[in-house]
Amino acid sequence: MDRPFRFVVVTGPTREWIDPVRFISNPSTGKTGHCLASEALKRGFHEVIYIAGPVPERYQQVEGAQNIAVETTLEMGAAVRQQLADRTILVMAAAPADYTPAQISASKIKKSDKEGLSLQLKPTLDILKSIVEPARQLQGLFRVGFAAETDNLEEYAMRKLREKDLDMICANRVFKGETGFGENENALLIVDREGLQQWLGPGPKESLARLLLDRIELAVMAPAGGQRPKNK
Ligand code: CTP
Repeated sequence: MDRPFRFVVVTGPTREWIDPVRFISNPSTGKTGHCLASEALKRGFHEVIYIAGPVPERYQQVEGAQNIAVETTLEMGAAVRQQLADRTILVMAAAPADYTPAQISASKIKKSDKEGLSLQLKPTLDILKSIVEPARQLQGLFRVGFAAETDNLEEYAMRKLREKDLDMICANRVFKGETGFGENENALLIVDREGLQQWLGPGPKESLARLLLDRIELAVMAPAGGQRPKNK
């Protein structure tokens, strides 16, 4: 099948430096995005762009893709903006840091036994929100976001879908050491602009990538009320 879309997937955490030896980050491994980019290549998307934050070595590159490594949320945002184009599927599977230190200390912060340490943080860029305006100028930019939640999965996912102006959101529960972040199985609640909901999984991230790409392709190829999955 001809696939006249570019496929851009963004994955992994970002790092926000506190001083030369410490940073704020999260345990995202980038595996979900890696599986998605690999699956898109297998399906014959002619251009696959893989933007990854600091992930373990096995997820740093996808063979056959255009690989772009980034570190901070600002760098990730700049890389995403560079890839905005007509007829592009953008999947934001990344977990960028939302806050960054108000000041980066040039020297290592020394510990003090007497006092605790207060760190002043400021918000960093919301990448998906920052592309809402530029996306209006483009034809056929299909935006897929993820929502990592510990609770109120459906409500928060719907809110993010609206606030970030997404075509589709994939919500998953995250708990330390369980599903979501990392290597384990996952389950995704898919919600589209019309509020149609569908659960994918639970299953390994490789199988979920196949199911999610099926779902994305269906939406992209038949946007005007064509074949639709049943609302579960
Ligand atoms: N995202 C983004 N820019 C950020 C943070 C998140 O573009 N600074 C994207 C993620 O890649 C994901 C979606 O926004 O596709 C939702 O991310 P999530 O971490 O679930 O939510 P936040 O928007 O960060 O909100 P909160 O932390 O309050 O849940």
